[in-house]
Amino acid sequence: MRLSDDVLLDLMTRFQTEMVKGLGRDTNPTAAVKMLPTFVRSIPDGSEKGDFLALDLGGSKFRVLKVKVSEDGKQNVQMESQFYPTPKEIIHGNATELFDYVADCLEDFMENKNIKHKKLPIGFTFSFPCKQAKLDEGVLLSWTKHFKARGVQETDVVSSLRNALRKHKDVHADVLALVNDTVGTMMTCGYDDQRCEVGVIIGTGTNACYMEEMSHIDLVEGDEGRMCINTEWGAFGDDGSLEDIRTEFDREIDLGSINPGKQLFEKMISGLYLGELVRLILLKMAKEGLLFNGEIATALRTKGKIETKHVAAMEKYKEGLSNTKEILMELGLFPSEEDCVAVQHVSTIVSFRSANLCAAALAAILTRLRENKKLMRLRTTVGMDGTLYKTHPQYAKRLHKVVRRLVPNCDVRFLLSESGSGKGAAMVTAVAYRLASQRKQIDEILASFKLSKENLREVKTKMRAELEYGLKKETQPNATVKMLPTYVCGTPDGTEKGKFLSLDLGGTNFRVLLVKIRSGRRKSVRMYNKIFAIPLEIMQGTGEELFDHIVQCIADFLEYMGIKGARLPLGFTFSFPCRQASIDKGTLVGWTKGFKATDCEGEDVVDMLREAIKRRNEFDLDIVAVVNDTVGTMMTCGYEDPNCEIGLIAGTGSNVCYMEDMKNIEVVEGNEGKMCINTEWGGFGDNGCIDNIRTKYDKEVDEGSLNPGKQRYEKMTSGMYLGEIVRQILIDLTKHGLLFRGQISETLRTRGIFETKFLSQIERSEEFCSNLDWTALVTTALL
Ligand code: BG6
Ligand code: GLC
Ligand code: GLC
Repeated sequence: MRLSDDVLLDLMTRFQTEMVKGLGRDTNPTAAVKMLPTFVRSIPDGSEKGDFLALDLGGSKFRVLKVKVSEDGKQNVQMESQFYPTPKEIIHGNATELFDYVADCLEDFMENKNIKHKKLPIGFTFSFPCKQAKLDEGVLLSWTKHFKARGVQETDVVSSLRNALRKHKDVHADVLALVNDTVGTMMTCGYDDQRCEVGVIIGTGTNACYMEEMSHIDLVEGDEGRMCINTEWGAFGDDGSLEDIRTEFDREIDLGSINPGKQLFEKMISGLYLGELVRLILLKMAKEGLLFNGEIATALRTKGKIETKHVAAMEKYKEGLSNTKEILMELGLFPSEEDCVAVQHVSTIVSFRSANLCAAALAAILTRLRENKKLMRLRTTVGMDGTLYKTHPQYAKRLHKVVRRLVPNCDVRFLLSESGSGKGAAMVTAVAYRLASQRKQIDEILASFKLSKENLREVKTKMRAELEYGLKKETQPNATVKMLPTYVCGTPDGTEKGKFLSLDLGGTNFRVLLVKIRSGRRKSVRMYNKIFAIPLEIMQGTGEELFDHIVQCIADFLEYMGIKGARLPLGFTFSFPCRQASIDKGTLVGWTKGFKATDCEGEDVVDMLREAIKRRNEFDLDIVAVVNDTVGTMMTCGYEDPNCEIGLIAGTGSNVCYMEDMKNIEVVEGNEGKMCINTEWGGFGDNGCIDNIRTKYDKEVDEGSLNPGKQRYEKMTSGMYLGEIVRQILIDLTKHGLLFRGQISETLRTRGIFETKFLSQIERSEEFCSNLDWTALVTTALL
């Protein structure tokens, strides 16, 4: 049982390998040391506040606590607590009995403290290996130590506790966080010492947690920052890797335990087993005649007769020897002076080995922390707790000394957690509570973007009514959905042929195209195009400047294609509302989207284009059609699919066209056949009919736009506006202190700075699904 420093350094290396194995995605399933992510991402920073309940189950004592954390300048924590027994029937009973008991104790505590009516968040310290996917969930992997209730393994202990609490009508507390006792300890100590990044328990069981880099934790998405890992080091060796140092006594203890083959490292170290180890050694020595004159008292044969508290008492400075005598006498033994010295020696060897083993594993964690931080020297604090560590007179001293010897390049402060794990659990709960209430506030803010089926049905009905308004002669003049006849009376039938020029103005790009169409057996379409920029000052300058610029672009294109002399027929895709009296006439009703050139509204855009060509006097063109982009889209698709009778644009703007029966189009003569109607549905709602689903952000975006009050539906749907809506929400969330620490940057105040393409980029990112980033939430809400 004596381990040299060489052996300890070797164990340290082995444990480092185990940690890596536990963290790796592929190696974790077979790893003995489970390295469980805890979803605790930070150490307390002093901003925690509120009243919390804490449950502390799984150590030598079961405790219920009330923790009050105030943040009045100086940190301040007040705690009241009560211990409850954990009867064997309960911890070896079934799941319902166990959690009912816990809930009963909680109710009793709340009653005693007169807080039964209060709605307090609960932090649940549950000192067993749990697989967590979030903070308020934990599937028990296996019982350890002395617990063995049926039907709990493989189930979520948080929901079991919630179910049990539900049976108590006047208890309204909810479990917000599940933490291991090591995590509770680290957080308790972290509240007083920000450097604390490790928590170690040496009590009934033994275990440690520490802050690991997210980028090393394969099992949790994301690479930013750190997360606390519950190592569950008690299981070190369960895969056989410690067989060389395990003794016959360790094997015997294991075989007689309630979980043979499991927690082999823990069984060499922790309080539940130390006394028993001593007893087994004494028994063997007695059998071999080395103690008590070879006499074997019944007590020495009885499991559990020597407890860890006895080991501690026997090793006490000065009184140790007399304590030993007393203990042995109580066990019905009659020890000589020599026997007492020998028994004390056995105790020392067993407990020293325990401290050595812990030191080796802890040294491995410290080395890992130092390497993670790429430091030559690490200065850090380890939060410590556990009855063995606290009550054994020599244990702490020995452990500290060995750790410092094993990792000379770490300056370690060992900080005893005076108030147990409960305080730390309350800290974790405080953070969870703050996040949950922020989340709630955010949800409330974003709720105005949620559209129920009911809402959608209402939009549909209203849109339908508006469409009919727009078609009727009487109501047309005041209709918000303009329903513009396009004089396009059929979709392509494949007989089209020829060479055409085409302009495409009003979307993200301005394009000039040459389209060659063949019909018959060699049916084909070939296109050549060039994209041109339209500078902002042209979009919002004079009409003449705009059309001169367009003609300049056409000239460039003809030059580029080498067809300046050819007088080709031209189709003009003009993606704005135009009132048409024929296919080659279109009076601009009003600019939409980002255009605002003067002297165009009310004018025929075909005439304006013709005049600009004339002004340039370089080439001539035969403008034969002006079409909306929706119509262009329907015709493009109609060429491939004769069933196509609707064209929809979801781009910079939003609009739709469709084939309507002539008899329904009152504003155009004739009842035969069909005509395409450009609905201009972007204007839907301009009479206020959908104001019930417009949010304050939509209103802000509208007010800051080029055409306030107009195109309200378009402003809720199209690319020109989505980014701007997000920006308004971000500003508001920041004002509420929910983002960017409440600081609104000058940049964020700039109109248009948050582009719609960012929405796509944010939602395209791989981490999007797991990411709780508010901007991601916001953009999802919008879409
Ligand atoms: C293009 C059409 O494909 O889509 C344009 O050719 C139309 O006419 C555009 O305006 C709409 O999308 P966006 O995103 O460019 O506005
Ligand atoms: C056992 C448990 C572990 C706990 C430790 C200390 O090892 O498995 O979760 O932290 O005991 O109580
Ligand atoms: C705007 C225009 C409309 C166009 C749509 C899509 O709504 O008013 O004509 O179809 O944007 O570009």
